[in-house]
Amino acid sequence: MFDAADFIEESVQQMQTSIDDIAIIACSGGVDSTVAAVLAHQAVGNLLHCVYVDTGFMRKNETEEIEAMLSDLGIQLITIKAADRYFSALKDITEPEQKRKIIGELFIRIFEEEQVKCGAKYLIQGTIAPDWIESGGGVRDTIKSHHNVGGLPEDMSLEVVEPLRELYKDEVRELARALHIKVSERQPFPGPGLAVRTLGELTPERVEVVREACAIVEEEFENASSQGLMELPWQYYAALLPVRSVGVHGDVRAYGETIVVRAVRSMDGMSARYSEIPHSILQKVSTRITNTCKGAVNRVVYDITHKPPGTIEWE
Ligand code: XMP
Repeated sequence: MFDAADFIEESVQQMQTSIDDIAIIACSGGVDSTVAAVLAHQAVGNLLHCVYVDTGFMRKNETEEIEAMLSDLGIQLITIKAADRYFSALKDITEPEQKRKIIGELFIRIFEEEQVKCGAKYLIQGTIAPDWIESGGGVRDTIKSHHNVGGLPEDMSLEVVEPLRELYKDEVRELARALHIKVSERQPFPGPGLAVRTLGELTPERVEVVREACAIVEEEFENASSQGLMELPWQYYAALLPVRSVGVHGDVRAYGETIVVRAVRSMDGMSARYSEIPHSILQKVSTRITNTCKGAVNRVVYDITHKPPGTIEWE
């Protein structure tokens, strides 16, 4: 039986003994990295440099929200605006594994630059068990290279510390509640962010469409569930598919792309069932997305695939 208080005590003690110099943490504002940041901060205090990379693939208003949350937790956040670097590194790249590798590598490079600036010797990461199990541990085939595992370059000069490595999501949420972290119930969000929800070419315009569509899905599902109209899924989002279809706006022919809405029930992300969302809510989401992303999107579809065989994210 998992005991959050025991885990916190042990993990803080362990980091106190193993970290003897400046450490950098990659905080994305998600449950995993925020819990890791708070534990590390309790362990080493000001030796911790908490860095947030704004990759350009974050959700609507996410950067501001993360900055406010960390400040409330007493942790000073260093924000690095890196969207331009990410978009140019990913220009013309459409193959999902290649995207993930480039994003992971650039992520680590940016941390190395920060390491040089602050002289950090350790890199703390919020990796949890499903991240590395699915990235291929020898016995398993590589399903996807997860951001925080597959992207690590071989010449990396930082020593990696992963305090949550053996935990599953429900255990990390328990820790977050115990540590009074307000994103404790927040749905998971992949390390590479909206980049893996923008299938095909990554342009600022296409990512912006996904950002708007994800915000609409989140808002409508959260409203509907707070009104008791549906159960809030474990994860719910929109992805942009490079599939164009003919449509009509007013009297004019449109030839836009496709948004797929995905919502799943799951315990730990390892397997999942698609959520049965009431049609009235899906219809509202569809209308809002096509109205907001006029011209860019003229068709919205709902994904009814379980995991397996589909993964939760589309890339
Ligand atoms: P998949 O798509 O593999 O996702 O079924 C399982 C869970 O993991 C999340 N995910 C990631 N999390 N780095 C992460 O930290 C990643 O690269 C990554 N890719 C997927 C996904 O959102 C789901 O919750």
